[in-house]
Amino acid sequence: MITRIKNKIHALVFWQTRIGELFNKMYDLRLFYKYSFDKNHLKNQGRIEHYLTKQYHIIEKGLALPKPRPEFGKDVISNLVIKSTEYYHEYGKSKLIESISACLNEYLIFNKKNNIETNNKYYTNIKKFVTMVKPNKLGGTKIITKQDINKAIDFDFEVFLRTRTSIRDFSDKNVDINQLKEVINLAKLAPSVCNRQGWKAHVYNNSLLIKELLTLQNGNRGFTDSVNKLIIITGNTKAFTKLESNQIYIDGGIFSMNVLLSLHSAGLGAVALNTCLPYTIEKKVKKTGNIKDFEKLIMMIAVGEIKDNFKVAVSNRKHIDSIYKAHQ
Ligand SMILES: Cc1cc2nc3c(=O)[nH]c(=O)nc-3n(C[C@H](O)[C@H](O)[C@H](O)COP(=O)(O)O)c2cc1C
Repeated sequence: MITRIKNKIHALVFWQTRIGELFNKMYDLRLFYKYSFDKNHLKNQGRIEHYLTKQYHIIEKGLALPKPRPEFGKDVISNLVIKSTEYYHEYGKSKLIESISACLNEYLIFNKKNNIETNNKYYTNIKKFVTMVKPNKLGGTKIITKQDINKAIDFDFEVFLRTRTSIRDFSDKNVDINQLKEVINLAKLAPSVCNRQGWKAHVYNNSLLIKELLTLQNGNRGFTDSVNKLIIITGNTKAFTKLESNQIYIDGGIFSMNVLLSLHSAGLGAVALNTCLPYTIEKKVKKTGNIKDFEKLIMMIAVGEIKDNFKVAVSNRKHIDSIYKAHQ
């Protein structure tokens, strides 16, 4: 009886009225305030790493400009050296800290080349850090050529894009889970705000668990049983800071698109599945899928091997003139 009343209230709030939207927003904001980082309150390792990534990427970007200004970013760099040193003493060596060192080293060389006097406290602190943490080759800038790019784009991208389509009828062959790891490894090349990469791909292999998760999603009726693997893309609230509560969906969406394209390039069939859910169901998905509280669901992606022949929805696109507007 009590469960029935609860279900009725739930349905009323989330499906029959728009009050649920407010509760969903409150849930999102609660997650964001609880987990996002603030440069004045950096308590947790994950949050500090995202903060450091944001800060050192400012230097990396600066060095990649056509004509960087000598000594640019002094405040950011002074702070980066302090925070990176604290991080190093607390957590030790990591790829991140070595990349920061590589970036700072390039900054030093750049300024020396520009005849900047480096015998002062500012540069001594940078030098001290670069000596303490050996730079790797994964920070700073790199040279690429137009020829490299031209070679890479010498294939029919239009055909590639036109043949990606949502597939809702998979073959019963098993998808190799290792192949999905490669797909995600490729998809991680997606761009993200300050290169923070605040996303995760949860990949599910167990058919019972996949079914349990899919019963919580409302767009897979009719093909649930043919889904061989399920990916749940989440955004990491710890990767974002003030005025970035929407960025989690933008970066998560871009990453998801890369996953869809990588699946296509691997010859696998896929369909994105919305996670437009009441927050109560989102919490159930997280619990069932062993997803952390600080993660925000972006979308699910159902995956399967492709049949020899199958039907797909046409999903016609709007005319170019309705979405393209040239401005003078
Ligand atoms: C975020 C997102 C959520 C989607 N959710 C569903 C869904 O729940 N069920 C479904 O069958 N298709 C879903 N789709 C697939 C769309 O219907 C499909 O992408 C669109 O019609 C364009 O067709 P195409 O992917 O074949 O080009 C979703 C797509 C996106 C991007």
